[in-house]
Amino acid sequence: MNDLVQWDLQEVQEVITSLKHKPGALFPILHGIQNLAGYIPAESLPLIADALHQTRAEIHGVVTFYHLFRMTPPGRHSLEVCRAEACQARGSRALEAHVKAKLGIDYHQTTTDREFSLEDVYCLGNCACGPSIRIGDDIIGRVTPEKFDQLVDELTTVALEIRS
Ligand code: FES
Repeated sequence: MNDLVQWDLQEVQEVITSLKHKPGALFPILHGIQNLAGYIPAESLPLIADALHQTRAEIHGVVTFYHLFRMTPPGRHSLEVCRAEACQARGSRALEAHVKAKLGIDYHQTTTDREFSLEDVYCLGNCACGPSIRIGDDIIGRVTPEKFDQLVDELTTVALEIRS
């Protein structure tokens, strides 16, 4: 179970039951479950399949096709790197490579310590100050590799202090 967001299979079933009669019910159900749990737990796939009279493979195919759905628990911090044109012109490609190397993950993955989930995004509305990233609700501009390392280290240190 995800220790960041508490949920149980009974709640997942309630989401499915409340939405299964809607037209095009699969997407509302997947959004509902992801809102509840923070991701689509593998255990929910057979429940969805039963409710919609589809196969688990069909449900799995949809979940994995759309990047907005995730099948692993999210990290404590959601981190997005802008890949749109203006940020690319200001060095986001090099920043992306650095971010992935620093965190040891690719897009749509979560670090092993569950601190960070990494996603790509196309424009954060901060184009003049690229390269831009968003951590949680905070948009940060002019991000250099050094600045990124500092941000990550600060957030990780805060998390360690809270736990100890
Ligand atoms: S292109 Fe990156 S914030 Fe707009």
